[in-house]
Order: sequence, then structure tokens, then C-alpha cells
Amino acid sequence: MRPWETLAEASAPDGQPLLLRRRGHEYLIVAGGYDLMSSRDDTTARALATVGCGALGRRSGAHVLIGGLGMGYSLAAACAELPSDAVIEVAELVPAVIEWNQGPLAELAGRPLDDPRVRIYRGDVAQRIEEAKDELDAILLDVDNGPEPLAHDHNARLYGVQGLRAAHRALRRGGVHAVWSYSDEGDFAKVLGRAGFAGSVHPVSNRGRDRGRTHAIWLGLRKG
Ligand SMILES: C[S@@+](CC[C@H](N)C(=O)[O-])C[C@H]1O[C@@H](n2cnc3c(N)ncnc32)[C@H](O)[C@@H]1O
Repeated sequence: MRPWETLAEASAPDGQPLLLRRRGHEYLIVAGGYDLMSSRDDTTARALATVGCGALGRRSGAHVLIGGLGMGYSLAAACAELPSDAVIEVAELVPAVIEWNQGPLAELAGRPLDDPRVRIYRGDVAQRIEEAKDELDAILLDVDNGPEPLAHDHNARLYGVQGLRAAHRALRRGGVHAVWSYSDEGDFAKVLGRAGFAGSVHPVSNRGRDRGRTHAIWLGLRKG
């Protein structure tokens, strides 16, 4: 088997080291020693957008916020799902990840950053959610491991009741909050319920390196 080659090194704003690695056609982003995203495991990242945008229907003028960018698969799937007048905003914390998506990773998901509907928010998606009031039709969240965050401790707030209430305030009536999660177990649907959402879980299977492993998309539909 070919050895991994390190293409680039960077730091997250909290100082955590990130590596961009390649082995043959496979790319890997490593954050703090943890494999954050592999190009061989795009199925469930895409499912975040198909499940989340699917729950919206093809709502005209939909404004969708995605956090974070990773390798651009969720963004590409959202571009495919949403109508031509949609606004698709992607929040990414690590500037180097944006550069990598404009460089060596650009072709993996078909250059979704070049789609004219796409806007980049350079910063923390939690900050962008706090800023929005009755503004968004959907939030698609894949910044970490899910409700049990691994890579960045500060992301835990996105999955607690306070963070979910902020998401509820950011969404318009009938809005959708979709959350990628490593596991389909746990009581996150109840936590969504405490923040004013009707919560449900959608198990999704990987077809890539972790073939058959079940992850989950948690879905919160804004009540009222
Ligand atoms: C698992 S990857 C996302 C994979 C993505 N769904 C895809 O399709 O490739 C997580 C991404 O979220 C970014 N991130 C982590 N915490 C963030 C935050 N609080 N706000 C915005 N981006 C964040 C990471 O730098 C990384 O690019």
C-alpha cells in the first residue's frame, strides 16, 4: 500500500494542528491527530444535504447555511438539491480548509465553491447562527463528530439546548435543522424537542472506507 504524503499543514483558530494528506487518489484532513474527513467517505456527508434539503422541498428563494466546508460534499449535494434562486452559505472556521477547497481538493466534489449561489462565511458557524434572526430556511451542520464532539471542544455548545435555541431563532417558520452525527444512538431527538423542534433520526450508511457503518442525520423541524 502507498504511504500517506502530507500536502499541507495549518492551524485552526484555537491552535489545533491540521494536516492535508494524500495517498493515491484519496485525501484526508487530520485535525489534532483525528481523521476529520476522508474523500472515501462522502456518502453520509452528501446525505446531510439530501435529507435536510429534502425536508424543505424545493422552496423558492431558500437560504441555507452549511457548517463546515470539509471537502465540499455536503455543499455540492445542497447545490444539486436547491433551486436556482437559492442562497447557499457555507461557514468554515479554518481559512486553510477554504484554500484547500480552492486548490488541491477543488475537483473532489466538482468545484461547488464556484457555484454562483454559494457565499463563504469565514468564521465560526455558531457566530453566524447567533447573528441570524428569522433569516434561514435550513441549517446543515457537520462541524464535528455530532452531539458528541471530538475535534473541537468549543463545538459542544452547538449541540446543547442553548445552541439549538439559537438555531431555532435563526430559522424561519417551517425551517429545518439537520445535524450529521457519528452515531444514530442517543436521545438527541429529545434535546431538539426541548429547543422547540420536532426531532427525528435518519440512519445513513457509508459506502466508502467504513463500508456499512451506520451514521445518522438528526432532523429538527421548527415548530410554530
Ligand atoms: C467533518 S468536516 C465537514 C465535512 C463536510 N460535510 C463535507 O461534505 O466534506 C468538518 C468541517 O467543519 C469545520 N469546522 C469545525 N468547527 C467549525 C465551526 N465551529 N464553524 C465552522 N466550521 C467548523 C472544520 O474545519 C471542517 O472543515
